[in-house]
Amino acid sequence: MSEASAIEVCIAGTGSYLPEKILTNEELSTFVDTTDEWIFTRTGIKERRIAAEGEFTSHMASKAAERALEQAGLAAEEIELIIVATITPDTLTPATACYVQQKLGANKAVAFDISAACSGFLYAMKISKRMISSGAFKNALIIGAEKLSAFVNWEDRATCVLFGDGAGAAVLRAAGPGEGAILATEMGTDGNLTHLLNIPGGGSACPITINNAGDHLASLSMLGKEVFKHAVNRMKEAAEKVIARAGLEPEDIACVIPHQANLRIIDAIADRLAVPNDRVFVNLHKYGNTSAAAVAIALDEANREGKFKRGDKIVLVVFGAGLTWAAAAVRW
Ligand SMILES: CC(C)(COP(=O)(O)OP(=O)(O)OC[C@H]1O[C@@H](n2cnc3c(N)ncnc32)[C@H](O)[C@@H]1OP(=O)(O)O)[C@@H](O)C(=O)NCCC(=O)NCCS
Repeated sequence: MSEASAIEVCIAGTGSYLPEKILTNEELSTFVDTTDEWIFTRTGIKERRIAAEGEFTSHMASKAAERALEQAGLAAEEIELIIVATITPDTLTPATACYVQQKLGANKAVAFDISAACSGFLYAMKISKRMISSGAFKNALIIGAEKLSAFVNWEDRATCVLFGDGAGAAVLRAAGPGEGAILATEMGTDGNLTHLLNIPGGGSACPITINNAGDHLASLSMLGKEVFKHAVNRMKEAAEKVIARAGLEPEDIACVIPHQANLRIIDAIADRLAVPNDRVFVNLHKYGNTSAAAVAIALDEANREGKFKRGDKIVLVVFGAGLTWAAAAVRW
């Protein structure tokens, strides 16, 4: 389906929030059988943030959203649509987006969650771009937010070293003349690979009961090597599609903002896209993998650090459980 539409959609503001508490690899290795050397050489991660007790996904989401709204110059009451991408909602129902709407006082907004794991923020971007370009909504607040520390098995060294907590947000709205635009978007799913990365318990298929409560079933479970292979292939394909659809060449891209899961995956993507490493934004050494929040936090940091300016072309590309993947090409 063509992406051409009468109403162009721009990213008017970004924001992010990271909890205060830092958990370094060294601290982790005092209670898990691992080392800073193993984690850093295999993943590029040095530390991650951990939400405080009583600090939920909706709290982090709301703080990131407030910063994005401030940058966009929009009041919460003006927001018409809120989409929260998360796999670690405050509650199974209602949606975390409803708590965010209440916390922000965004009383006019329709609010719902989407569950597409690490790809969720770019799924939300594509959905809200369509909603705005169709004329159904004037603007949207999209948020990736996760409290993964509540869903990892802190005794499983193969997974617990990888993840962290945080939130990132962006405000999208109809663009005026000369403003930026989301040029092309892509998303994909392969439901044959649900077994590679999942949280098996806590849903209707496997409720947590008194009999299985000690089995860590409501924790992330992953076949890391398999995930790695698919991540590189799918991210490359998705990025290439949006680059081609936006009419860009690798040398036109000021900044690639990939999902922040593993530095070796990021390097492989940069290599395959023929974009030099200094134009690829990386912050996973500070935060680990924050799933749906990761690309949103990276977008905000890259924006605030001036990694691109008005008119520059940037590419976002992500991959996650499902398996899911997505990409977007944006003129800033
Ligand atoms: C998870 C990942 C870093 C593991 O790296 P790997 O090179 O595949 O490592 P393996 O799982 O083969 O484990 C190698 C060894 O290290 C050990 N190991 C695993 N985790 C460890 C840890 N935290 N510390 C020390 N040793 C560890 C394993 O037990 C294994 O030991 P063995 O050879 O004695 O059996 C890597 O597969 C990866 O990054 N995959 C992608 C994951 C991802 O991005 N997921 C999110 C997608 S959104």
